[in-house]
Amino acid sequence: MKYTRILLKLSGEALMGNKGFGIDQERLMEYAREIKSIYDQGCQVAIVIGGGNIFRGIQAEKGGMDRVHGDYMGMLATVINSMAIQSALEGLGVQTRLQSAIKMEQICEPFIRRKAVRHLEKGRVVIFGAGTGNPYFTTDTAATLRAIEIEAKVILKGTRVDGIYSADPEKDKNAKKYETITFEEVYEKGLEVMDMTAFTLCKENKLPIIVFDMNKKGNLKNLIEGQKIGTLVEV
Ligand code: GTP
Repeated sequence: MKYTRILLKLSGEALMGNKGFGIDQERLMEYAREIKSIYDQGCQVAIVIGGGNIFRGIQAEKGGMDRVHGDYMGMLATVINSMAIQSALEGLGVQTRLQSAIKMEQICEPFIRRKAVRHLEKGRVVIFGAGTGNPYFTTDTAATLRAIEIEAKVILKGTRVDGIYSADPEKDKNAKKYETITFEEVYEKGLEVMDMTAFTLCKENKLPIIVFDMNKKGNLKNLIEGQKIGTLVEV
């Protein structure tokens, strides 16, 4: 196994499947099965999931809502998605622990770094909810922060596209996919991988990012075994 401890970042929108809102049970179970496949291999797995399928803070601001208020609502949305993933995984017999950056003791543990690491060592999938617990930060930043804190070997960003392209592949036929790219090149070419806060945090801590298609069965398993899938961003 190439990557023994990973942080998997999933977008909330991905959980919608073909629905316009909320959680598609079918998609949720597909993701849970993919995660189980690497858990069964003994990979230590931490997960951060977004909340955009339920609530987006930025859009709420456009509609006149206070930005900070909207961001907190978005953080709560990530807890709902985290609980859904937790339940799906446990249904498959995968041991999990959910930790939240905002305390809600009746539902989950508070985020405690050392406890999270211990859970991973004991073979539990750890899900981090409520982002960083602060407004103005994205779930990509939360994922990066947690990945660094738990000393994950890589951050795997599961998306709908199979990597990073020189241009939008849906609009430009000549767009070419990068197999590997450096952090510097991403800056120079103005490519969008993560927001700048998250991206810079990865760069400064030399945490590699792999952007890959989470909807393709087997990708996750092949990735941790070391196959070249998606795009690897490294120093
Ligand atoms: P170790 O004993 O250290 O191996 O870990 P553990 O998670 O099994 O121990 P603990 O006794 O802390 O937790 C038992 C169960 O209670 C687990 O399912 C935890 O997720 C849950 N739990 C622990 N702390 C909290 C909390 O603050 N709130 C909620 N809702 N659940 C908690």
